[in-house]
Parts: sequence; structure tokens; C-alpha cells
Amino acid sequence: MRHACMLPFTEKQIVTTGDYCETYSSKLPTSILEQIHFTDKLSKDEVVMAPSLSQCSWLMGFTQSLAPNRILELGTFTGVSALAFYEATKKNLAEIVSMDMSEKYLKYAEEAFRRHGATDRISTIQGPCLETLPTLTGQFDLIYIDAAEEEYEAYTRYILDNKLLSSRGVILVDDVLLEGLVVDQSIAKNFPEEIQEPYLAIADKMNAFNSYAASEPRVTTIMIPIFNGVTQIMWK
Ligand SMILES: C[S@@+](CC[C@H](N)C(=O)[O-])C[C@H]1O[C@@H](n2cnc3c(N)ncnc32)[C@H](O)[C@@H]1O
Repeated sequence: MRHACMLPFTEKQIVTTGDYCETYSSKLPTSILEQIHFTDKLSKDEVVMAPSLSQCSWLMGFTQSLAPNRILELGTFTGVSALAFYEATKKNLAEIVSMDMSEKYLKYAEEAFRRHGATDRISTIQGPCLETLPTLTGQFDLIYIDAAEEEYEAYTRYILDNKLLSSRGVILVDDVLLEGLVVDQSIAKNFPEEIQEPYLAIADKMNAFNSYAASEPRVTTIMIPIFNGVTQIMWK
């Protein structure tokens, strides 16, 4: 059997591999490229919250295959992933609801949605996810969890308990490997000293979420070692 991950790369090789994957993938729509370009001009701490070009391509492909009618996103940020959902559902015209507690980021995202004519299907809600989730009605076929890592378990429990996920729906949870910290705490030494402890605390919470998701009896859980770790959750 092969190892789950076969790429023991240096930082430089990771960048080169990303570029290589981008070269040999279909070009992303202009709306996404422009919004990534916009996001890249924010501070270093903010830039890392946006998905890579490869992750956008993968999200689009996944979404297109699933053909969801309604999509829910927890964590809009500057709107890159919401635009990926929008572009991937141009045939079936999915409704996309995206929430974020940051007024600043929602303003950036909403400006982009307007610029790219996407407000016909993307709506945003401002507020903490745990307060916003109870305001939602109906079901979603794709739910993308990408907000506060320490709340992932609470989001998932709420979604399942309240049947926000449709019977054929999929929850995608981003960042479940947390830069590898959930499997090897020594990776923390690669980060600036002042964020090592908070990151390790988040890794503990993420570990707790990962064990919860794997043992939740109502769903099938698949953790995939791509990007920063993605878990796919579906009803049994
Ligand atoms: C990783 S970014 C989302 C990236 C976005 N999904 C994308 O791929 O382009 C996380 C976002 O979640 C938001 N956020 C963090 N904690 C939150 C919470 N408790 N409730 C709502 N939004 C939250 C942050 O403001 C930030 O914009």
C-alpha cells in the first residue's frame, strides 16, 4: 500500500508543485483570479486565510460534480470560495448563503460579488456563526465549514441536530490538519514564537473535532490529506 501522502517536500518544492498543478489545470474564472489578487494585497496574516488556486479548482470541481441546489458557507472572508461556488453552479443556479462575523471582510466580499454580478445568487449574513446558524431555514446540499476552528464541533452538531444538511448533502470542513500540528506538535517551531502557544491550543481543539467527527454515529467521515486537510461528512 502506498503512503497517504507521497510528497516529502521543502517549502520551495511545495511552491513549485503548486505552480505545476496550476499550469496543468484549467484556468480559473477571472472573478476568482481577481479576488485572489485583491486578497494577496492584504496583510500577511490575512493572506493565508484565502484558498490557493489549486484549492479553488478542486472546490469548483467538487461543487460541479455535486450539483447542489443550496450552498452554505461558514466563513466568507474576501469571498474567494463563495465565488468558486458561484462559478461552479452556473448551470444549476445554486443559491449560496455565506456568513462571517467581520464587517470589514464582508464589505470586501460583497463589493466583489457586485463587481462580478454574483449578488443574484450569493447572499451574506454578518454575525458569529453560532448565532447566525439558528436564523437559517431549509436545507443545504453543500456546507463549507471554514470559520473559527475551535467551534467546528459545535457547527457540525448544530447542522446535524437541526437537519440543515440535505439527505444527499456533503459537509466539507477545511483546515482539519492545521498545518500538520494535529499530527506533530513540533511543527509549531516553524511559526513565530508568539503564535506557537495559541496555535497548539487550536490544534488540541481540532484534534477533539477530528475524533468527534470520526465517531459521530449519524455520518460517514472521510479525512483527506489535501491542502490544509479537508474532511468530507455525509449522512449514513
Ligand atoms: C479562513 S477564512 C474563510 C476563507 C473563505 N472561506 C475562502 O475560502 O475564501 C475564515 C473567516 O471566518 C471568519 N470567522 C472566524 N470566526 C468566526 C465566527 N466565530 N463566526 C463567523 N465568522 C468567523 C473570519 O472573519 C474569516 O473571514
